[in-house]
Amino acid sequence: MRKTVILVCIGIMVSFVAAYAQSDEPVTFQDFVKGKEAFEENCIECHSLEWPLKKIANREEWDLTLNKMANTGAVLSKKQRQQVLEYLVAKSSFQVKCSVCHALERPLEKNKEFQDWIQTVRRMAEKKPGHLTDDEIEAISGFLTAKGAETKLY
Ligand code: HEC
Ligand code: HEC
Repeated sequence: MRKTVILVCIGIMVSFVAAYAQSDEPVTFQDFVKGKEAFEENCIECHSLEWPLKKIANREEWDLTLNKMANTGAVLSKKQRQQVLEYLVAKSSFQVKCSVCHALERPLEKNKEFQDWIQTVRRMAEKKPGHLTDDEIEAISGFLTAKGAETKLY
């Protein structure tokens, strides 16, 4: 009897840990690629992409914007919403952090693989210590890998 109770407890704990791990999956550069796709497919239904591409905002502000758009009628799955959010947050960091020393065209006109972007962005970060966190380096590299050749930020 006691054994069964312990086993049930362990079972419950394992499923909690699994659920937690699932909701806390690390963001990979594929998430930025998916985020860009979902953004370009779903956010153009009612207006041009110019508004969101121009807009520079932090995570909380983008979160509010996505809620507002959902209330207006934008439909995204939970996963897509998360990916679009990451994409827009990374895009904003890129716009703010990478325009300090040169124009954004410099990185925008280049295409590199994720690992190569990580190296470039780390090299840029070293030019101005304290300017970029590790999370920002990853996110900006993800955004740059996903952007393709034609991304225009207005
Ligand atoms: C069902 C229609 C609809 C869809 C789909 C939609 N929007 Fe909007 N959006 C609007 C309307 C209407 C406005 C103007 C009124 C306003 O500002 O709330 C707007 C305004 C905006 C603005 C400018 C105002 C602000 O809050 O900064 C941004 C940015 C924006 N949308 C982003 C997005 C993004 C990102 C998506 C995709 C997830 C999206 N929209 C999808 C209807 C939509
Ligand atoms: C502190 C100043 C500074 C900041 C901030 C900065 N850059 Fe640069 N960047 C430079 C300088 C200087 C050069 C030219 C010399 C070189 O390549 O190191 C350059 C060159 C580049 C190049 C062309 C060379 C290559 O390796 O492809 C790219 C792309 C680039 N930067 C991307 C970025 C990105 C992305 C960011 C934001 C994460 C950024 N830069 C932020 C100073 C900066």
